[in-house]
Amino acid sequence: MLCSTKCKKMLPYEITPRTVQVLASALQQLPKEGMSDSECLKNLASLIRIHGDLVKDSDDVQQSEIQTVESLHVSQPFIVFILGGPGSGKGTVCTRLVSEAGFSHLSVGDLLRREVASGSTVGNEVESIMKSGGLVSDELAISIVRGSIESTASRNPGCTLKILLDGFPRTLEQAIMFESNIAQVAKIVWLTCSNQILVDRILKRGLTSGRQDDNLESVTARLKAFNENTERIREHYATLNDGRLHLIDASLESDEVFSQVYQLLR
Ligand code: AP5
Repeated sequence: MLCSTKCKKMLPYEITPRTVQVLASALQQLPKEGMSDSECLKNLASLIRIHGDLVKDSDDVQQSEIQTVESLHVSQPFIVFILGGPGSGKGTVCTRLVSEAGFSHLSVGDLLRREVASGSTVGNEVESIMKSGGLVSDELAISIVRGSIESTASRNPGCTLKILLDGFPRTLEQAIMFESNIAQVAKIVWLTCSNQILVDRILKRGLTSGRQDDNLESVTARLKAFNENTERIREHYATLNDGRLHLIDASLESDEVFSQVYQLLR
């Protein structure tokens, strides 16, 4: 027979305050018998995901557990991938699109930095990855994005959401997992810029940003990760040739870059 204590011990995830309430209700809903330990664990994992908590990368959480936006009773949002190298201006463009075009802005980088600042287990685990300029696991990135879309939808009931995913996907796998399991992407905005300009911007920002990855060593690694992983994403959407991929010259003045993206998305 399963009991709450046993289920909690089996959980590979950190229990955050937000999670406690969800778990309490989830444990009550679980059948007392006829359910294997692994089924119990997977059900709990799904319930935690639904409530948008960060989870550790775990073999126990299968990709098939990621539910579609539709199945979670959220009307299909208008989703835009905003992609580009470090310092290409993703965050800058997104900030203006929020205030001037009514978009919601979801940045995996910002959400990860928040997690690091909270001192949680997940935060401690990803801190060194981010500092070194590497990528967190696809599963964690997908989980964060999915949780954020859910949270945004629940804060705006009945609205057709317009969502900017800033810096997601970073791998072709993330793109495919997202489109297969969560939602279709309406447009992909690709901010192109030379490596030299990107490095100059990041080093300049590093003088005041306080970001642990705004230094020459980290940005070099971030650029390498970007160049190695994202070309496959660009090739994928270019091959589909369905009009969703748009390249924008991000070396132009900030206002000009914004204006071009705005025209594209309005
Ligand atoms: P993230 O926070 O997304 O960092 P990034 O991609 O390196 O991008 P930045 O935030 O540094 O730059 P930006 O393009 O937003 O430019 P901004 O507008 O700030 O990710 C951080 C880390 O998290 C990753 O390295 C990875 O470890 C992890 N991560 C995130 N997503 C992940 C995922 N999906 N999967 C796995 N891991 C993930 O502008 C930069 C500067 O340039 C500013 O000072 C700005 O004022 C200036 N600027 C902007 N535009 C212009 C312009 N047109 N002209 C002149 N200056 C400009």
